[in-house]
Amino acid sequence: MVEALREELADLTASVRAFLEWHAMTGADGMPGHPAALHEALGAASSDGATPAPRRPERGFSGQDAPSPPVARGGSGAAFSPPPPRGGAAGAPLPPPEQREAAASASLPHPEQRGGAAGASPRPEQRGGLESQGAWSPTQAQRGPEPSPRPAVGAAPAHRADTAARASATLPDTKEERAARLSLLAEEVRTCQKCPLHEGRTHTVFSRGDPSSEVVFVGEGPGAEEDLQGQPFVGAAGQLLDKMIAAMGYHRDEVYICNIVKCRPPKNRKPEPAEMAACSPYLTAQLALIKPKVIVALGATAVQGLIGTSEGITKLRGTWKLYKGSIPIMPTFHPAYLLRQPSAKREVWSDLKEVMRHLGKSAPDRG
Ligand code: URA
Repeated sequence: MVEALREELADLTASVRAFLEWHAMTGADGMPGHPAALHEALGAASSDGATPAPRRPERGFSGQDAPSPPVARGGSGAAFSPPPPRGGAAGAPLPPPEQREAAASASLPHPEQRGGAAGASPRPEQRGGLESQGAWSPTQAQRGPEPSPRPAVGAAPAHRADTAARASATLPDTKEERAARLSLLAEEVRTCQKCPLHEGRTHTVFSRGDPSSEVVFVGEGPGAEEDLQGQPFVGAAGQLLDKMIAAMGYHRDEVYICNIVKCRPPKNRKPEPAEMAACSPYLTAQLALIKPKVIVALGATAVQGLIGTSEGITKLRGTWKLYKGSIPIMPTFHPAYLLRQPSAKREVWSDLKEVMRHLGKSAPDRG
């Protein structure tokens, strides 16, 4: 009992510390609770605060995703078009044509709502991202299963085809069922040989965090540290991401974090389109099971893997997109980029506040 309380207190202290550190870094003030006040706050431009140097160089990010230096946005909150509770936003970028029909009939998730169309097994016409660009050549696959680095969670299915379709075929309603399906999916990923990335991996990197989370963070792919530990975002960029998450008022384990590709690309290069396409059914299945209210796409590769656009992150960030016509995506800079370009933290914080606003959530007060 005392031990549990002590742990809780330690957790709380860590969250508050991370929050304060993030605020010290961004120079941001405590977020006003009311959305209108938030929009005013978003309009206030000021220069970046002093930023501590990263503890160690980030190795989990290709860097090819790096934006050109952030363009001045005039500090205007009007630069962000919040998604309306229902339907498309005026001024928001139009989803690809094949998603429009779906978007017209499916409503954007309201902060109070979960589930709905977001969780439905994706119809062919809804497929976004790279999944539709075809799977990896079968000649490189099927060399027989490699030993699983971790013990199996539940029984692996005998037939491993059509991962996404099976995982989301009959959608679970309970937390337990969702967790069980995600475990099976993770187990399948552990032996995946659909693309050459499996050849160099130490571990596959499926996810960390809470599968019942309302928010999912999607990165590019594992780096060296993630490959060693089998967990996403545990390197320097991950530590910064944890601070961003704490500043939003979540514990790091309260959100769900995953990547476009589940195996580390050699030398941390950007994943090839074919690698992203081969891995895409896994992410599709993860998101169909989790049904988040919001996806935060970390960097251009994440946005590309989710919705197929190759537009630069500087242009994309801060503007709502739609995943499969239903789940709002907020693109923002990758934390690895922030380690190199700390002045961009201000924009990221602005994007995260927009996410919180959409979720009807206010940041913890300072002090
Ligand atoms: N960068 C990513 O995109 N993902 C990780 O898991 C780690 C670093």
